[in-house]
Parts: sequence; C-alpha cells; structure tokens
Amino acid sequence: MRNKKIFLIFTILVLVCGLVSPILAGSLEDKNNNHLGQPFKYPDLPKEEHTPDYVFAGEPKVTVDRKGEAIIRFETVIPTSRAKIHYGLYLPEQEIKVPQYRVEVTEDLKKKSRSHAVIIGLRKFEKQKYDICNFKEKGGVICYRIEVSTPTMEDQSDFYDGRFRVDGDYYPLPCVIEGPFVDCLTKTSAIISWETDEPTMGTVEVNGKRYNDDSHSTHHEITVTGLSADTRCEYDVFSNSIKDFKSYHLKTAPDSKNSNFVFAHMSDSREGVGGGERACGGVNHHQLSRFMIDAYNNGADFVLFGGDLINGYTTNTEDYRMQLRSWKDVSEQIGCYIPIYEGMGNHEALMDAYDNIEFDKVDDDESKSAERVFAEEFVNPHNGPEAEDSMNGTAPTYDENVYYFDYANTRIISFNTNYGWCSNPEEYGGNLEGYVMDGQLEWIKEVLDDAKANSEIKHIFMFAHEPAFPNGGHLGDAQWYSGKKPYVIDRRDELWEAISNSGKVVAVFFGHEHNYSRMLIDGRTPVYLDGSSNQNFKYPVWQIVSGGAGAPFYAQQKAPWTKNVRYFYPGKNYCLIEVNGERASLKVLGDSGEVIDECPLKPILSYGIEATPIPYEYNTAWRQGIADDGSNWYISGKNCLYKTDEDYNVLEANLIPFGRHEKDGYDLGEMGYTHIGDIDYFSGLIYAPVEDASYKNAAFVIYKAENLIPIGYHKTSQSHMPWCAINPDKGCIYSSEFNSVDKIFVYNLDNFAPMKAIKLDRILQRVQGGVYHGEYLYISCDDERDYIYKINCENGKIVESFATDIGTEMEGITYQEDVIHFIDDGNYIYHHSLKT
Ligand SMILES: [Fe+2]
Repeated sequence: MRNKKIFLIFTILVLVCGLVSPILAGSLEDKNNNHLGQPFKYPDLPKEEHTPDYVFAGEPKVTVDRKGEAIIRFETVIPTSRAKIHYGLYLPEQEIKVPQYRVEVTEDLKKKSRSHAVIIGLRKFEKQKYDICNFKEKGGVICYRIEVSTPTMEDQSDFYDGRFRVDGDYYPLPCVIEGPFVDCLTKTSAIISWETDEPTMGTVEVNGKRYNDDSHSTHHEITVTGLSADTRCEYDVFSNSIKDFKSYHLKTAPDSKNSNFVFAHMSDSREGVGGGERACGGVNHHQLSRFMIDAYNNGADFVLFGGDLINGYTTNTEDYRMQLRSWKDVSEQIGCYIPIYEGMGNHEALMDAYDNIEFDKVDDDESKSAERVFAEEFVNPHNGPEAEDSMNGTAPTYDENVYYFDYANTRIISFNTNYGWCSNPEEYGGNLEGYVMDGQLEWIKEVLDDAKANSEIKHIFMFAHEPAFPNGGHLGDAQWYSGKKPYVIDRRDELWEAISNSGKVVAVFFGHEHNYSRMLIDGRTPVYLDGSSNQNFKYPVWQIVSGGAGAPFYAQQKAPWTKNVRYFYPGKNYCLIEVNGERASLKVLGDSGEVIDECPLKPILSYGIEATPIPYEYNTAWRQGIADDGSNWYISGKNCLYKTDEDYNVLEANLIPFGRHEKDGYDLGEMGYTHIGDIDYFSGLIYAPVEDASYKNAAFVIYKAENLIPIGYHKTSQSHMPWCAINPDKGCIYSSEFNSVDKIFVYNLDNFAPMKAIKLDRILQRVQGGVYHGEYLYISCDDERDYIYKINCENGKIVESFATDIGTEMEGITYQEDVIHFIDDGNYIYHHSLKT
C-alpha cells in the first residue's frame, strides 16, 4: 500500500446499535471465534473518510471559443497553488497513441485554491512549424496534461491527462476521451467500448458494416458480430457520425485447430517510487506503458492483468474511479488493438473505514462496491459465479472480476483472491485477503471440470492476485499467512487440489509480490511448515508470480518451498506465453527489455514423452549428457560430472574434471581439454567424450562411477566428440563427429584403438548424444525437430526415427527398462517409453 498520509476530513459517528449485538452474539456462538464469510458487522466506532489519493476531483471541463482559446476548468480535493498545463497534438499516423506535448502555460492564480481555470491558446498549431496533423484546415485532437504540485500530499506533482477536439473553425467536436478498447474477443465477435466527452450516438464500422448504440450516452459499448476466425479487421469508431481521428484494427481468435498465439501476463502497476510518471494518479504510468507497448510489439494477442492496477484503498468512490481511469490512460494505447483482461487485487479497495477496521463498500442505494465500480469501468466476460450466499446481501458481485474465456485450444480463468474484503473478518465478518470463498471455489471446480470434458481445450491458464505459495514480500498474507492460519492452508489446499487434479492446468499466474518467481508444484513439493508435501497435488502445475509492472520491489524470503523455486528475480518484469498446439512456453522480460527467464511450460508431447524439470540449482550445470547404472543417474555438464540417486538428489559431484591427476601426473586442463559431452556408464566406470579447445584430439576420459575421480584417458583423432556409447556385447565403444555425420566410429573398449567406421545410410546433423541397447544405437540430434534415431549397428541403417519436438536444445541420451531418457540444455530430463 502506498505510504500515504491519511487525513481525516470529517468523521461521522455511526451508531449501529442494531449491528453490535449480533457481533457479540456471533463471537459467543462461534466456537472458532471466526466470522469469516458472514455478513459485515460494522463496529460501534467513528466512520472515517480518507482524503482521496488523487488530487483531482472529477473530470475537468473544457470550453473553446472561436478565437482559438480553450479554458480548462478543474477542481482539486485540497487547495493547491497554480497549475501548469502541457498541451499538444496527436499524430494520426502513429500506431500507438502518444500525446505530443509542445506548449506549456501556467495558471494565473494568486493564492491556493480548489477551483482552477487555465486558458490555453490553440492558434499556435496553425503555424506551419507546429502543424503536425493539418490542424489549420481540419482542427484536431488536443492532448493536455494538468500538473499540480500537491505540497500537503507527499510534496509531489500529480497529473491529469485529458484531450478534446475542435474543427478547423474551433467549434468543439465530440471527442473520444477514453479508448476505444477491444474486449471479449471470440472467433466471430468482439466488444468495442469508449467514452466521449459529451453524450453521443456511437457507431462502430467493421468491414463496411455499421453497429450502433441504442441511445445517446458518454459510455459506448457495442458488440460486433459475424467476423471470421483468426482474421485481422480494420475498425473505426464514430461519435454522432464523426469519425475518431484515427483508425484501429483487431484480430479475431483462432480456431482450436489452429492454436498458435501469444499472450502476456502482468500485474501490480500501482504507483512506484521515483515520482513523475512512476506516480501518476495512483498508477506507475512509466512502467505500465513500457510493458504494455512491449507486449504488443512482441506479438501478444491479449493481456492478462492480475490486480493492483492502482493504489486504491480509498473511501472515495470518485477517487477510486479516477485512478482506474488513470490506468486506462495507459492501457488504451494497446487496448484499442488487443483485449486486456483485468483481475482485482487487494489495492482495488473501495472501502468504509471505521478507525482501523475497513470493509469493502456494499452495493446499495447510496454506495457501490469496489467490484461493482470495477465492472462498470472494465469490459470483461459475464460468466462468473453468483455473489456469496453466506454474506447475506453484503456480498459484492463477481461479475467481470471472476470469469473465464476460451481462446483457440486454451481456457483462461480469472479468479478473485480479494473479494468482499474486511481488514478483520474473523471478528467483523466478510472475507480475508487472499481467501477464495466457498461459492467461488465451487465455480472454479465446475469450470475446470467443464474444460476437462471439452476435447477442444488442451491447456488451462489461471490468474489471480494473491499467490498460493508466496516467495517474497507477502509470506505474511496471500494464501499462506506464514502457515499460521489452519483454515487458510486448508482452503489453499482445496483450491490447489482442484487445480492440480484437472490435468489440463499448465500454470497459475499471480501478482501481489513485486518480483518474479517460477516453481513447479506437485505431490512432492514441501508446502507445509514441517516441510511435508500434499500427495493430492496430482499433476504438476507451474505457479508463476509476476507482480512486476510498477509497484516497489521485494526480495526473496524463505518459505518451506524455497528449494523448489526454479527462478527468482526481484526486478520489474512481465511474462509472455506462447501456445503452439500442444506446447506452451514462457519468456519473462525485464524493464530494459532483457530476457530474464525462458522455459517450456508444457513439454509433454504427442509421443507420450514426460519430463522432469532439472532442479533450479543445477540448470546451468546439467546441460550435456546422461547415463545410468540401473539405480543412479550420472549427468554431465560442459565441465562437471554429477552422480544422483533415482530422484535426482546429488550424491557426488566433480566440478574440476580436467584437474591434475595426482598419481599419473597428467593434467587434462593443461592439455587443453575443456568440454564433456554425453557420457556412458559401464561396469563401474563412466566414459566421458571430451573435446579440446582446438578440436584436434578429442579423448575418452574414464572416471570411477563410485566417486567420479578420473583414472585415465585415451586420445583419438576425432575433432569433435559429442557423445560415446558402450556396446558390452561386442566390447567396443561408439562415437562420432558433431555435424554432417555420415559414419559412426568404433573403438576397442580394452585399448581404445580404432576398429572400424559404420557408414550411415543418411547424414545426421548436430549429433548430441548416443546410447547402445539391444543391438541398436539410439542417437539424439539437435536438428530441426530434435529427432532421436534408432540405428542398426551392423549396417548403419536408420530403422526408426521420431521427432521429440522438445523445442529446446537436445543433448544426451540413455536407455533404461524400455524407457529412453534424454536431457536438454538445463530445463528438463525427458522420459519416452518404448512400450506401446
Ligand atoms: Fe497486492
């Protein structure tokens, strides 16, 4: 929460005598003294109003005279000194609308006031030197920014960004002041919405077809239908038949059979530290704008936004609305082309405050809940659950904050961990921050079951605000509360059991923690204070926390599952997820555009290949080869060797495999050896193919399997030696070059003398691994589709091959009990059963 000074403007003593007695009665009746989920029970305390966070009170009013002067009138919630107006024009040809400010004027004001009026001259834009949009002839849209210094509110400037439109004679024209936005996109339809500065009849024209509003309004929300799947359409919006100053486009959702798309996830764009654009009407405009535009330019087809859009935590409905509109000033830049699906966080709090106790406002004749205003300000699907019964009329709506939609072969589910909030629900009813209430949980289960039964849905992604397994910043709340509230843990488990039992949920995205973390949760993950796991977490599901769109950072903290966190990054970030048929992969980008993390999220392929993620602490090491002796794994990296038990727990490691040999005196490092490839195991020994830096004399280096200590080496005349494989039946060892491989070299296992070469019946590229089993060699290649080839060792014929399509760099291979195991460059160890 922003460290804001809260001012008590007025205090109303509300004597809710009728509500006090049930509190006492309830607390006596309830064994656990827990009123969670019950109706709000307001305390007998003074009711407070918190001064709005945002200094502007409502929308400014603009009038223009025929002489080309405009007056911008606005109110502030406290008296402020003279304001500054920055103003300019838009470039119609610019893809992303960016205000082109050019002129500044300062208000003529003698002493601080809540009422402000600033005159701005527009004729300057008629001059050739400043006319960037044929303003002289046709007029245009004028962008303006009001800057007000707010000395009593954190001594910083606050900004309001607005616009208005005039024609060439300075007559005002209806202006689109927010949007347009594309939302609820399907294969054949979309909703286009926008706001105008005066009531107008709105029209959308798509593919020459017009769709109209029913009546005059400043809010326009029009459904366009009859579109074709996976098709880009140009569209225009009109207000009273006057076309907006630029045209837009959208792309309909693809068919489930043609699922190749990208979406972004980001969260927590509320104000950051740094002032200026980083603290702008409750929003970090700087960071949010950067990530939104970056996601769009990186090909995102839609964006999921997981809550804490704004600072919020306000008792003032207009303030809450103004902050959400400040957020939309940024999101409209790409929201006019691709849909943004918003979810709610703890900061989307519009509350009634009594001393230190705060309640979500209730929808009634006098007020609206945070959820209701959110639904009014955003366009999202309407398929969520009914309001929670147990709160008996004080529950807010789930409409447009809990929902799902299907896009190609994927279902996206938005759920709300910050519904019906009360700061102390155990005593005063309502809901706990982070807690998913009964009705919503049932709805989630139904939507998951429905997706499970739908053969067109291959993947499910979910998003909400507060993590099930927090890692940095919010271990004391979210769905964990430091493990100290049993009912919270029970509910988290019930939710995650439903998620993990679906079998289709790939990842659940959260925010709340202003950092990035990735972990795979399964039945072995320690999820309780005593380090034990939950066997009911049936299928592994990624938890991805990406709360880095602007709020102040948090570092990593210790939790029972810390060892399972495969990547943690404390800086600003957002996620891009690519779905390509059966596969899904993740790329995480930071605030200067660098790739922070990248990994396949769903490498389970059509051949029934399963995958074990490489433990995070070894993902820079385990990148070359794999072997086994029936009960242990041996894994090689470029310059390291590991021995593990069958669950990949490390038993031995040799991190200086080219060191000086004490007994025999040779030093492989000094001889130039630098790189181990795909190793093999035979009879208590590890055989490692090792290359020298000058690629002259690759060698076999032999290590004791017991402790990974080297016992000898044998030079060859191979240039590259990416792999070796032992044939115990024939007493030989196989290897090859790396590129354009047309033969397999055969060496004598006793003395490593070359025996012969087996000519292959075709040329293999980027050969990375090999293993011998049952008269065949299995060769893994980092070629076009990461093929594995089965080769007859007698005649070099490739008898079988299959594409693994792992999408990462194919490395070494081993064979154990009818299962081929192979490894990529630090992400996964894959298992492909040959039993049909
Ligand atoms: Fe949060």
